[in-house]
Amino acid sequence: MTEGARARNARICGIGAYLPRTIITNDELAQRIETSDEWIRARTGIRQRHIASEDESCVFMATKAAEDALVHAGLKAGDLDGVIVATSTPDQVFPSVAVRVQAALAMDHGFGFDVSAACSGFIYALSTANAFIRSGQAGRLLVIGVEAFSRLLDWNDRTTCVLFGDGAGAVILEGGASEKEGILSTKLHSDGQFGDILYVDGAVGKQADKAVLKMNGREVFRHAVTHLADAVEEALRDQGLSESDIQWLVPHQANQRIIDGVARKLKLGSDQVVVTVDRHANTSAASIPLALAEAVKDGRIKKNDLILMEALGGGLTWGSALVRL
Ligand code: ACO
Repeated sequence: MTEGARARNARICGIGAYLPRTIITNDELAQRIETSDEWIRARTGIRQRHIASEDESCVFMATKAAEDALVHAGLKAGDLDGVIVATSTPDQVFPSVAVRVQAALAMDHGFGFDVSAACSGFIYALSTANAFIRSGQAGRLLVIGVEAFSRLLDWNDRTTCVLFGDGAGAVILEGGASEKEGILSTKLHSDGQFGDILYVDGAVGKQADKAVLKMNGREVFRHAVTHLADAVEEALRDQGLSESDIQWLVPHQANQRIIDGVARKLKLGSDQVVVTVDRHANTSAASIPLALAEAVKDGRIKKNDLILMEALGGGLTWGSALVRL
């Protein structure tokens, strides 16, 4: 690359969200399976979750979040060069959710594809979009995290069904950020050796209609604590920053105890951590953009704030993103 054409980061210029209409509380779950509000809240911090109705497909939820982000950015679908969607629960094997959203937004230009990295999906999609923009292949991209995990759950398995919820969050990235602004760094990791501690037991032609999520919760918890701490350190080191530079932690929302562990490590006060797990439960790839949308729109996170995002999910996959809004 010639001097003067140095690759420039992408920055976030719009944020949107969509949550399904139906809310199910812990007490409602306790009427159907052997569990209690007290057990769920003490172990996870979750009080309720949004559950998609039949008409709230992933494409529908993703499109709603995208429209919200476009309004927030003051842009039209025609201003976008492409759509990248992070999801583990696409409505169809193909076409991707991304191209369906492209069609729903009446975009007849650009490209769309899905990224599959379970709960780390949004970090993976953000990193991918940033790389496209830095390389000059796209100027402005829509990045969506959307999940309908309710369709992957065994609703009789109390060890998993109490943990998840549905929803969608979206950001719009555009090029031309200054050196100290935008997506400052993204770090991605995976280790397929641990694919069996969190997985879906179905595939195309193999009882796909009965596929359900299986998890060894204790093992996932153990990996989350160590890997997330490492991912956070790596992100800071890369930018020559220290914990005290971070203004906001916007973590994947799997479990309040995991979030508290990372916040303690970063010496962040609870007022610097965006938490939605109590109301949304774990919405997998949608959880970070949903949390970001809430905190930006209610005025907590402001322009120029330094934000650390981190996630770990099935794969195992994990990663972090350091963003100056
Ligand atoms: N209600 C009541 N009791 C329950 C429930 C429930 N919903 N689920 C399990 N129990 C029981 C178990 O049967 C067990 O009973 P026993 O001692 O008689 O055998 C007891 O509670 C303890 O079970 P554990 O699984 O040991 O409970 P633990 O303290 O480990 O908490 C939890 C479970 C909340 C799942 C925890 O391990 C955890 O949070 N793990 C991380 C999971 C996670 O974050 N996953 C998502 C990350 S990746 C992604 O986002 C896809």
